[in-house]
Amino acid sequence: MAMLKGRRIILGITGSIAAYKSAFLVRELVRAGAEVRVVMTPGAREFITPLTLGTLSGNPVHSELTDDREAGTWTDHVELGLWGDVILVAPATAHTISGMVEGRGDTLLLTVLLSAKCPVVVAPAMDRDMFTHPATTSNIEKLRNRGVHVIEPDEGELASGLEGKGRLADPVRIREELASWFQNRCPLMGYRILITAGPTHEPLDAVRFIGNRSSGRQGVAIAMELARRGAIVDLIAGPMEQTADPPAIIRHDIETALDMQVAALETLRGSPPDVIIGTAAVSDVRPANPIEGKAAKVDLPNHIELVENPDILSDLNASAPDGCFKIGFALAHDDGLEAAIRKRERKGCDLIVLNSLADKGAGFGHTTNRVRFVYGHDRIDSFELKSKEAVAIDLAEVIQAKLLERTPFASEPTD
Ligand SMILES: Cc1cc2nc3c(=O)[nH]c(=O)nc-3n(C[C@H](O)[C@H](O)[C@H](O)COP(=O)(O)O)c2cc1C
Repeated sequence: MAMLKGRRIILGITGSIAAYKSAFLVRELVRAGAEVRVVMTPGAREFITPLTLGTLSGNPVHSELTDDREAGTWTDHVELGLWGDVILVAPATAHTISGMVEGRGDTLLLTVLLSAKCPVVVAPAMDRDMFTHPATTSNIEKLRNRGVHVIEPDEGELASGLEGKGRLADPVRIREELASWFQNRCPLMGYRILITAGPTHEPLDAVRFIGNRSSGRQGVAIAMELARRGAIVDLIAGPMEQTADPPAIIRHDIETALDMQVAALETLRGSPPDVIIGTAAVSDVRPANPIEGKAAKVDLPNHIELVENPDILSDLNASAPDGCFKIGFALAHDDGLEAAIRKRERKGCDLIVLNSLADKGAGFGHTTNRVRFVYGHDRIDSFELKSKEAVAIDLAEVIQAKLLERTPFASEPTD
């Protein structure tokens, strides 16, 4: 039940005789704490009224592409598609299933499905012979191959009088299967994670800068892994070539340490994170007096006065909400363990991920890394050299275990 708390579910209802059961389904989902918005096909309205579903869901029901023809207003299917954590089509007719496979947009529901970024679950319901027709079985297979989760219909007496498979799964089973699907596929849904990644560039003039060799690859791999598990990730990204653009990653591109400090703190205040991960290699210093425009070679100073940059991770950790899990990265040129233990305390981190340039294939510029998770003197977990994506999975496992002990800040019940 808890997995559905705070989830935003778009319930698509189509023109099956089983549409009347969707009233019970809405009630089940709402009781489990989900927010439900119903999108019905015109066919579904023949079987159940929007008034019933609107009353049970507590939200307006949408079924037409245009709201009011006279006024020229329309239902924003793109906004609807982006709102949901999942689209559940139940009951799903053979007709709507074929429309999903072909990518048709002849009902509002099909256009929402085309625009949506979130995962889709369908619960087919139809007569036995429609369900076993090769067109339907092949369409359902195609949807599965696209990652759509299918809740199998029940066997039993059908509205046509036939016996067999095709009855809409019982609403309680749909609710339970949806909850365990959420648990497996998106265990971190509802959690918010703030990651800094990459180097910072500190300008000497308009074209020259002080920077470092950080590629941002490890931070981006972590952001991608956590987003894949359902978390919303704010990625404060220094100048880097890595791409990270799934919808669950909100990318804030910055250049300097001061920019990163502002972006990170503003993000933290606007959307309190459940986890802070400081992977960025923030330049320790910046030129005190950057030159405006591009300085000619003869005008370059012999000495550059440097000033210290802020300690962004310490600032973030100090402003973090209670219970936030705080992770820092340390790059050592030698073993670095004692320094990492001290850094953990100094920066107010729960965990330091230590990598060392002394290990071949670890640290900046490589596609691989060898890390130790340093929790303090009494607990240090060492890992083999592996890809940065595999390191991201190890870290995500630790984060997931920690987070699932408590409710996400963002999904705190408001009722
Ligand atoms: C009484 C009645 C019951 C129906 N039940 C189903 C059904 O359970 N499953 C199905 O796939 N189609 C069923 N249909 C056919 C659909 O309503 C029809 O294919 C319609 O075009 C579906 O459109 P939609 O998917 O946009 O809602 C039924 C039709 C009628 C008249």
